[in-house]
Amino acid sequence: MANIKFFSGEQVPLEMHKVKIVQKLDLLPVEHRLEAMTEAGNNTFLLNNKDVYLDMLTDSGVNAMSDRQQGAMFIADDSYAGSETFNRLKNQLKEIFGMDFFLPTHQGRAAENILARTFVTPGSIVPMNYHFTTTKSHITLNGGTIEELVIDEGLKVTSEHPFKGNMDIEKLSELIETHGADKIPFVRMEAGTNLIGGQPFSLENLKAIRAVCDKHSLLLVLDASLLADNLYFIKQREAACRHMSIREITLELASLCDIIYFSARKLGCARGGGICIKEEQVYNRMRELIPLFEGFLTYGGMSVKEMEAITVGLDETMDEDMISQGPLFISYMVDELSKRGIPVVTPAGGLGCHINAMEFLSHIPQKEYPAGALAAALYIAGGIRGMERGTLSEQRNPDGSERFSDMELLRLAVPRRVFTLSQIKYAIDRITWLYENRKLVEGLVFTEEPATLRFFLGRLEPVSPWQEKLVKQFRKDFGNSL
Ligand code: F0G
Repeated sequence: MANIKFFSGEQVPLEMHKVKIVQKLDLLPVEHRLEAMTEAGNNTFLLNNKDVYLDMLTDSGVNAMSDRQQGAMFIADDSYAGSETFNRLKNQLKEIFGMDFFLPTHQGRAAENILARTFVTPGSIVPMNYHFTTTKSHITLNGGTIEELVIDEGLKVTSEHPFKGNMDIEKLSELIETHGADKIPFVRMEAGTNLIGGQPFSLENLKAIRAVCDKHSLLLVLDASLLADNLYFIKQREAACRHMSIREITLELASLCDIIYFSARKLGCARGGGICIKEEQVYNRMRELIPLFEGFLTYGGMSVKEMEAITVGLDETMDEDMISQGPLFISYMVDELSKRGIPVVTPAGGLGCHINAMEFLSHIPQKEYPAGALAAALYIAGGIRGMERGTLSEQRNPDGSERFSDMELLRLAVPRRVFTLSQIKYAIDRITWLYENRKLVEGLVFTEEPATLRFFLGRLEPVSPWQEKLVKQFRKDFGNSL
């Protein structure tokens, strides 16, 4: 049974946890925020956390741990090989996913490295609902290409579709007909599709993909990093699953896959990663790479303390109260911003609230990175650190031209159990002010542009002194307040 708590007739979400440990935060004056942004090359990745009030960069590795997770960290069995900590994690994964084999990795992209090295060869084509940055890089590094087959609705910023992360089954069949199954090492589905707004796929869609994979003897790989949100949405939005428990949905979903890999910086609310595998021969193909790249087979580069926290975190992920918290806060934020006419991705997804920078800053051309400019502006306006998810996060075409992304989004991640509702309200307030003053915001240009994953380390500058004007307006409207 759905067990979601609200109060006061309004759809105000109620936290089903209490705060036990806190971290002091600072809110720098706006002038200092402008200085910090300039020093960071207008790249929110390069800000120092001490200068940030609300860190909405990501939900990766920054989710709040529970008392049970922290308690479990004390019983970690620290041995290089054969630790009981590993057995506990492996057993927990077996209980949740029903798969017999598990390879630990130090985080999600390390699992992608192992998968790509094992299965992808020059000329391989990997169909997927949508790419994630590190996934695509590992596949292309090994000579493969990716094909994004998300349903057309998935790329519409605003929509009523409950499962915008679904794959278009016809497109998948056509792709296999055109290129032949031999070229396809596996089909990849990403839960809670990160780059298009944390949008879920349905269990029904995964079943249909499984049927196509069976027809052509293809492996089905699930990226389960954002599975917690996806599970919540399946339970809430998929009529056939309404009466199933989260555990039942998880088991059924996992039974359709051959491999499930994940970032435990997200799934399990700790830090690490891993690959669960159904068949022994598939496991054996990957196994030897773990000691080479990660660490011995019973820790894979993770600290045993974190492994204990993941084990408990995975168990807690089967609790609807736990997995609903992020999506409910995000939905509150999306609804409140929508009411104010601010363009956001709908329906609300998991991971965070996604602002449509293409419309918010419609006067900025894509070549001047509207989502990057919005990220810089929001930090200056509120000390809020978001992440650009648009053209800056793309790689240039081989001829050096820009590859414009399908969407220009500013992602404001809502890490699980971290923020209070008044902090979310503060973010809404500052975004609203910025929207009212959006015409002051202009674009950015690169001053230093790395060749791969340029969004991590690239540096940019404003095309004009628009940021000083923004600070002046802030002072005019807010007086001496921060
Ligand atoms: N797959 C998905 C869907 C992810 O969201 C991430 C990470 C990874 C793989 C890689 O995992 O970071 O543990 O190596 N996403 C982070 C983010 C970085 O901020 O969205 P990792």
